[in-house]
Amino acid sequence: MRHLLSTKSLTRDEAITLLDIAEDMADVANREVKKLPTLRGKTVVNLFFEDSTRTRISFEAAAKRLSADVINFSAKGSSVSKGESLKDTAQTLAAMGADGVVIRHPASGAPQVLAGSGWIDAGIINAGDGTHEHPTQALLDAFTIRRRLHGTASRGRGLDGVTVTIVGDILHSRVARSNLWLLDTLGAQVTFIAPPTLVPADTSAWPATIGYDLDAAIDAGPDVVMMLRIQAERMNAAFFPNSREYSRRWGLDDERFARLSSHSIVMHPGPMNRGLEISSAAADSERSTVREQVANGVSVRMAALYLLLSGDREEH
Ligand code: CP
Repeated sequence: MRHLLSTKSLTRDEAITLLDIAEDMADVANREVKKLPTLRGKTVVNLFFEDSTRTRISFEAAAKRLSADVINFSAKGSSVSKGESLKDTAQTLAAMGADGVVIRHPASGAPQVLAGSGWIDAGIINAGDGTHEHPTQALLDAFTIRRRLHGTASRGRGLDGVTVTIVGDILHSRVARSNLWLLDTLGAQVTFIAPPTLVPADTSAWPATIGYDLDAAIDAGPDVVMMLRIQAERMNAAFFPNSREYSRRWGLDDERFARLSSHSIVMHPGPMNRGLEISSAAADSERSTVREQVANGVSVRMAALYLLLSGDREEH
């Protein structure tokens, strides 16, 4: 694999291989092996044009656990604020000898542009581009679901027949899109629940059921309820009812949380708007995987870096 740009282009075998390597990485960490020498001598650049806590830190932790050198670049405080282009930024990183670039960018498609540009010869990982995709988030979500369902017998398995209800701001969510493609590839059944104004105009090609009634969706007893963050920074007032109305109709509040089927797990990619899309009782409960998702993110990102940067890389 040369680049990891989307989950839409991953085959089932590739996705399961990545999840299985992440299991190996988690096993190593459980044996309290602090570092593997795998990427010694390689340089990974975290190139972040948008804010991040989880993704940036976990990529840094993942690269360091594989013994890579890490350079953290934030657009804030860089020459991007003086108007420097993506091309000139990429060529600067190339001159510094970057082997891998983890890029988050507000423009959908920026990682694809970088990967196809010829400006830099490095493995490119999409860490979130606009409203398009966030593939490592979906991979860590799938890893977390698989572990909750199958525990130590997870290796080699997909998510066949697993029912996943994804709730909230579908319109602006790259997490929703990456999860849709990956969950479908792994055999899960996806339902999206959202206000009509937060669903894209054309979802006819999406392998998902679209609905608007969260209570009915909860009563259906899905295996997974994944709440999404309301992305206020990407929307204007016309999209958003108001906080109280949103929470009343589409929030996982205490009452809905109490009605969840006993086997359902609750997920959220973070950062959370507590009290808006999810209550603290739901977020902090035993059935919440929020902190597991963060921890699993390091193993999944180690797997992605390993696949891209160790040995020969294939075009993907
Ligand atoms: N889930 C996620 O991408 O979080 P950050 O924005 O903190 O990286």
